[in-house]
Amino acid sequence: MSDWIEFYDFKHSVIYVNARHRDVHYRTIAEDIRKLVSSPAAHVLDYGCGEATSADLIAASCTQLVLVEAAPNVRASLTMRYAGHPKIAVISAEQAAALPKASFDLVVMHSVAQYLSTAELERLLAIFRTLLKPDGLLVLGDIVPPHLAAPSAALALLRFGAANGFFWAAASGLMRIFVSDYLRLRKTVGLSHYSEAAMIATLKKAGFGVERAAHNIGHNQRRMTFLARPASSAL
Ligand SMILES: C[S@@+](CC[C@H](N)C(=O)[O-])C[C@H]1O[C@@H](n2cnc3c(N)ncnc32)[C@H](O)[C@@H]1O
Repeated sequence: MSDWIEFYDFKHSVIYVNARHRDVHYRTIAEDIRKLVSSPAAHVLDYGCGEATSADLIAASCTQLVLVEAAPNVRASLTMRYAGHPKIAVISAEQAAALPKASFDLVVMHSVAQYLSTAELERLLAIFRTLLKPDGLLVLGDIVPPHLAAPSAALALLRFGAANGFFWAAASGLMRIFVSDYLRLRKTVGLSHYSEAAMIATLKKAGFGVERAAHNIGHNQRRMTFLARPASSAL
């Protein structure tokens, strides 16, 4: 499903209707992620972080923040944005897989699982299991349930726009998204959907104890966030 990486590999993805949308989006998720950081000593990994324009908010609440982005142009832009930041490092997916075991207190992967095949997700969960400390936390956010139709995502975006002063930009941005490659890729490459039970089963199989969070990270509350911890029996 690597075509999705190409789709996102723009300096400014078409998925954000304007700079305000992008910045409010990343601030909202950074504020949500920050609440999951257990201590100022925490080491945090954000896998598939995207443009991450508010990563400094998360970094302010921990000791180290590693941003992992597979799309090379997005990664280059992140590297420039956070060059010289004392707590933030930007790396590729391959570099993440080679990090030392038990390095992180918190691993977050938000709004990425839908772009991965089941085999890719399982491979990543095994990597996260290795990278997490035994008492660490894996947060999988924005999991799209089956049958959640595109109109529901469009409506959530319009509401988010209305609440944050970019309603009309959201409306015209939706038109741009619909004429972009998004729908073609949805049909040809596909998106992965998981019911709550299916995601819990996937995480358990990967060696995690898991619960669904009461609140999904970000603006779309019809999607789901899961909180997973390495199961001691699987250590
Ligand atoms: C919707 S963005 C999410 C960005 C950010 N986490 C957020 O919540 O806004 C999807 C991200 O998934 C990444 N992605 C897509 N397919 C991937 C794959 N096969 N492996 C790793 N990352 C992938 C893209 O590069 C992009 O950064």
